[in-house]
Amino acid sequence: MNKQKIKIGMLGFGTVGGGTYRMLASNGKIIEDSTGVELEISRILVRDKSRKRDVDAPAELFTEDPDDILKNPDIDVVVEVMGGLQPATDYIAEAIRSKKHVVTANKAVIAKDGPGLTDLAVQNKVILRYEASVGGGIPILNALSTSLQANEFTEVTGIVNGTTNYILSQMTDNDMSYEDALKDAQARGFAEADPTADVEGYDAVNKLSILISTAFGVRVAPEDIPREGITNITKEDIGFATQFGYKIKLLAQARRYRSTLECHVQPAMVPMGHPLATVNNEFNAVFAKGNAVDDVMLYGKGAGAMPTASAVVGDLFEIARAYATGTTEQSIPTAVNDNTSLTFDGEGQNMYYVNLIAEDMPGVLGTIATTFGNYGIGIDTFLQRSRGRKTGRHVPLIYILHEVTRDRLNEALEEIVKFTFVKEVKSIISVACLD
Ligand SMILES: NC(=O)c1ccc[n+]([C@@H]2O[C@H](COP(=O)([O-])OP(=O)(O)OC[C@H]3O[C@@H](n4cnc5c(N)ncnc54)[C@H](OP(=O)(O)O)[C@@H]3O)[C@@H](O)[C@H]2O)c1
Repeated sequence: MNKQKIKIGMLGFGTVGGGTYRMLASNGKIIEDSTGVELEISRILVRDKSRKRDVDAPAELFTEDPDDILKNPDIDVVVEVMGGLQPATDYIAEAIRSKKHVVTANKAVIAKDGPGLTDLAVQNKVILRYEASVGGGIPILNALSTSLQANEFTEVTGIVNGTTNYILSQMTDNDMSYEDALKDAQARGFAEADPTADVEGYDAVNKLSILISTAFGVRVAPEDIPREGITNITKEDIGFATQFGYKIKLLAQARRYRSTLECHVQPAMVPMGHPLATVNNEFNAVFAKGNAVDDVMLYGKGAGAMPTASAVVGDLFEIARAYATGTTEQSIPTAVNDNTSLTFDGEGQNMYYVNLIAEDMPGVLGTIATTFGNYGIGIDTFLQRSRGRKTGRHVPLIYILHEVTRDRLNEALEEIVKFTFVKEVKSIISVACLD
């Protein structure tokens, strides 16, 4: 049925909800002029109606009762921007069962239940869109699933967490320690008071899981993605990375290798000449390699009220367009396709940077090289920092190793640390394989 006004119920009125409200007020006319459909926010669910808000909206729109939206027959579309797994998942499912179209920015919900909710949307003949859940304002999901959809992808690699990218950029460009860079990020609103979800990579695994479903048609649950955060990265590692021609970034990477898919979220050394090395501070980017298009990179703001609202309102625009053309049923997403020819195979092989602290004495380098060799691990580059020091002092031995699995590397290092001349393995960081 064609409809000239769409009534929206918004779940949440924080950063993204406030931005979405402002953007519809300022740019809603663009949608109306293009589609003939007016978008109106009719109700807004919050926890506390009495709270003073940064964005002004009429008091009568606010409610603390979800049924005012979910059970309200006048509401056509639900915009879920409250965050968290529950009750957000239940509210989205209930909205879909009540035949309401849904737009969400919630990566946790989509990473965990995206395929199930998509199936539910298909069954109920409603549209479910979630562009803002990955990369904020960057239209990466839409690009992968429409304009680039005819490609077979061999790689999707993203810098998808602005907090960690800001911290690593400050450590690199302003010589800050991890602790100082984190405090700076918190003071500027780029990091939460509890930064765990960002700095330990949980946010990035959610986004990578969604990217994998979209680009490869394979479901890898966030908890199955090998994950490592940035809390162990030191200024010394950043210094060595710079010396070798790399920048350290938290990468969310998935690669197709024949019939297997490998993926991980981990800090990685990115060659300075690669476009991902130029993505700094709070910016995000997703780099993809398709068998026809070759290299593509989308870059922009991965968070913030207005960039994220841009993606939410873009999704609403698509729903308005479907109403205008009477094609809501044709605009329903197909269930996340199952690519049965591709199986998930964990982390795969990577090159690694290893910083070993060992005594500076004859025979050490040969013994370590032989041990790596015994495990089939080749040495790409080696640097010893001992100039001006007396023999017998502990010095960093820096290795860049050829491709190896992390398990195999750990086995070799377990043997190496047993040598009495080795004091410790100070750091292990992957070196990004970006073909
Ligand atoms: N912030 C970003 O830049 C960004 C970027 C991309 C995606 N996202 C995603 O967008 C979503 C929203 O993020 P945000 O930063 O806007 O969050 P936020 O600022 O914390 O706002 C959350 C809003 O939801 C309401 N809310 C939360 N739990 C509720 C409940 N149980 N019942 C009723 N209302 C509830 C809150 O009400 P009160 O105001 O009354 O507390 C608040 O208005 C999240 O899924 C997030 O991952 C955010």
